[in-house]
Amino acid sequence: MTQHNLPWIDSFRESLENHQLIVISNREPYIHQRKGDQIEVVRPASGLVTALEPILREFGGLWIAHASGSSDLETTNARGEIDVPPSQPRYTLRRVSLTQEEETGYYYGFANEGLWPLCHLVHHRPIFRVSDWAQYQSVNQRFALSVPLDSTEKGSLILIQDYHFALLPRHLRHRMTQSQSPSRIGIFWHIPWPNPEAFGICPWNQELLKGMLGSDVIGFHTQYHCNNFLETCNRYLEARIDWERFSVTMDHQETLVRAFPIGIDPAPVRTLDPNEVEALKRKYQIHAEVVAVGVDRLDYTKGLVERVEAVERLLEKYPHYRGRFSLVQMGSPTRTQIPAYRALAEQLRSAVERVNQRFSEKRDSSVYRPVIFLPEHHDWEEIQYFYQMGDLCLVTSLHDGMNLVAKEYIWCQSAERGALILSKFTGASRELTEALIVNPYSIEELADAIAMAIALPQAERTRRMTAMKEKVRSQNAFRWAFSQIHTLLTGIETPGSLPKAS
Ligand code: G6P
Repeated sequence: MTQHNLPWIDSFRESLENHQLIVISNREPYIHQRKGDQIEVVRPASGLVTALEPILREFGGLWIAHASGSSDLETTNARGEIDVPPSQPRYTLRRVSLTQEEETGYYYGFANEGLWPLCHLVHHRPIFRVSDWAQYQSVNQRFALSVPLDSTEKGSLILIQDYHFALLPRHLRHRMTQSQSPSRIGIFWHIPWPNPEAFGICPWNQELLKGMLGSDVIGFHTQYHCNNFLETCNRYLEARIDWERFSVTMDHQETLVRAFPIGIDPAPVRTLDPNEVEALKRKYQIHAEVVAVGVDRLDYTKGLVERVEAVERLLEKYPHYRGRFSLVQMGSPTRTQIPAYRALAEQLRSAVERVNQRFSEKRDSSVYRPVIFLPEHHDWEEIQYFYQMGDLCLVTSLHDGMNLVAKEYIWCQSAERGALILSKFTGASRELTEALIVNPYSIEELADAIAMAIALPQAERTRRMTAMKEKVRSQNAFRWAFSQIHTLLTGIETPGSLPKAS
């Protein structure tokens, strides 16, 4: 039952035939949370979930993830499983529960205070504690045991996601050898991969690399990150690097390293009519002619303070935009146990307050504010509407593997009227070259880019948006998943055999 107008989706389905598709990620696609006496289902803010969920919904399979919601375990069966989406089940979610100690060491500690700043070069010093490393090792072991290994002729296709599970491929490889399972393992690293010097800071760099090399294929968003990875292996491991095949061989196991740029689900979006846009503006007290939107997790890699400072500079330098331009910044709280995240939220709040104090205007029945900060979680439906309301969208990450907000904004444009300002430090900037590409560390440049985007003639906006929309349509989540699976199954690249998406 294909809901997508993609000509190659049936060949994707055929490739998957007889293979069980297993996805493993830390973040789960549906979180059950207790709210009073009700249990509500929350969709997390995660690019990884955005891209993978439509694949599982279309083709079925098993998704194994950390049980992070307060009511997650109440809603699963004895095996820790629940069929999702809750409204119309299409695949199985298996939840792995972690103790608080495990979550603190593995998730908050090693993954998010260690590997996250290590791979995002944004001047946040990574913290590596021996105790976090111990939890990271043991949680990777536990997840390895939660994966059912198919020993039938074709085996499973195991797609491991992200920096939470660098050690998992090797554990699985070990189990597969013992049980003679012909399953294939891929790991996709959704965040940047730094150069060898930067990666060398991690005291356990060799263990992490060896863990990842248990995979048949390792994927990154960009060729640059693939190059960094190969150079890192070359520097720290006794391994054979094949620069022609772009592979690393260690202990007789060859691992291909490939770029698979991630995309979004190209499903149709409901277009708001002008009255609905006005109603949305009233609801959030947005009283400006020109509206920029920002949609991010409250993460220090996203360049949020820089964005607010750029709005301040815009209004200083181009006073005719005072009272006429507002930034609506949605900010989903994230990893709030980590001091660096709490500090960022504080810093951002005070920057917003300062700019609003300087430039707000009281009008007859309303107050104009230059920055409307909405620091809470919003669901996809509302986010789509904000994208449509936005005359421009600001993506100012200081470093980002891909950034799907940029692609979502483009996809939601109905009359191709918007303009995208995009950091040159995102993977997305390699593809979306028609965006206004900026260096977010330069507040002056950012302010000028906002002014330029506001002034961009409609014909030019349409030209740029049309070109970018075509790329977003074509390089979508299905193509991303299919390319990886094809490479996993055949050991060869896809492009020749993959028709263009319609
Ligand atoms: C990034 C990571 C994902 C993660 C997401 C949200 O996109 O690559 O693995 O799910 O951030 O972060 P969280 O810690 O809430 O899962």
